[in-house]
Amino acid sequence: MSTKIILDTDPGIDDTMAIFYAIAHPEIELIAMTSIFGNVSAKEAAHNACTLLDYVGVDADVAKGAGKPLVAEPRPHSYHVHGEDGFGNVNLSLSEKPLHELSSAEYLVEKTKAHPGEITIVAVGPLTNLALALDMDPQIVNRVKEVVVMGGVVYHSGNASPVAEANILNDPHAAEKVFAASWPLVLAPMDVTMPVVFTPNYFADLADAAPKMGGLMKQMAKFYIRFYKRYHGFDGCVPHDVMALTYLTAPGMFLRKRGSLSVVTEGIAVGQTVFVPSGKFKHVAFWQNRPQHDVLLEIDANMFLSHYFQTIENWEA
Ligand code: BDR
Ligand code: CA
Repeated sequence: MSTKIILDTDPGIDDTMAIFYAIAHPEIELIAMTSIFGNVSAKEAAHNACTLLDYVGVDADVAKGAGKPLVAEPRPHSYHVHGEDGFGNVNLSLSEKPLHELSSAEYLVEKTKAHPGEITIVAVGPLTNLALALDMDPQIVNRVKEVVVMGGVVYHSGNASPVAEANILNDPHAAEKVFAASWPLVLAPMDVTMPVVFTPNYFADLADAAPKMGGLMKQMAKFYIRFYKRYHGFDGCVPHDVMALTYLTAPGMFLRKRGSLSVVTEGIAVGQTVFVPSGKFKHVAFWQNRPQHDVLLEIDANMFLSHYFQTIENWEA
């Protein structure tokens, strides 16, 4: 049986890798994408989502989301990581597909009303749309099947500050609201994304095996890999956003732990995700009253690499 998902995304090169995976995997039904600011603006993200759908000849709703964080000062978009177009400057012809009339948050509220208990929200950008949906209709927590988030760090260091990952730092107040809500939530932090590296050779093989999706990813990745070389010092790039989806299709490749999450919203550690495993710090009232979520802490990187390759290759076979 396939899982109906709404992908909340800021495409973005690794977002593209996730979008292609969602389209290619037979157990995922991508019903919509809701855009969010982050790697690019919310408007660019929405049009990029449409462009990718056109590129592979697939249809799904695309709604435009929030353009700035709830409370925090907006941080600059990540054009230095993902290129001026969010796609590594590959000059894809832009889509003319119209956007959905609802905003991303409204779309999340309405779609989960239309399909109670059936929709999984996979969020791979800042969590502003999800927080706005919670404000609009707190009952959404009882209607989603699951929420899976790519973001944060548990025992790993951050990529946007020493202790913060970019999606969470881009809207710490939204992330805090999302983690404080009682919905079934799974976090895929950098602890499970950083062990997976797509190398230039991996892209070369993928482009040979699957020229449509693999070929485009190989082109886009050149820009992304240049950033990784400068910033992280290795020859390859990390497909962060895909991990939130592979958790749904291949949960066995992850080690998972239950506990509570919170986000620091002020000061030098702003954007830091704090994880307390179930049963710990019971004497502290704050943690006693937090909902329990699942956090992914380890990944079988080799299993992931072959699983991703196979999924894309099979789609084009
Ligand atoms: C996250 O930040 C964005 O730049 C990526 O698309 C990913 O969602 C990784 O920190
Ligand atoms: Ca993203």
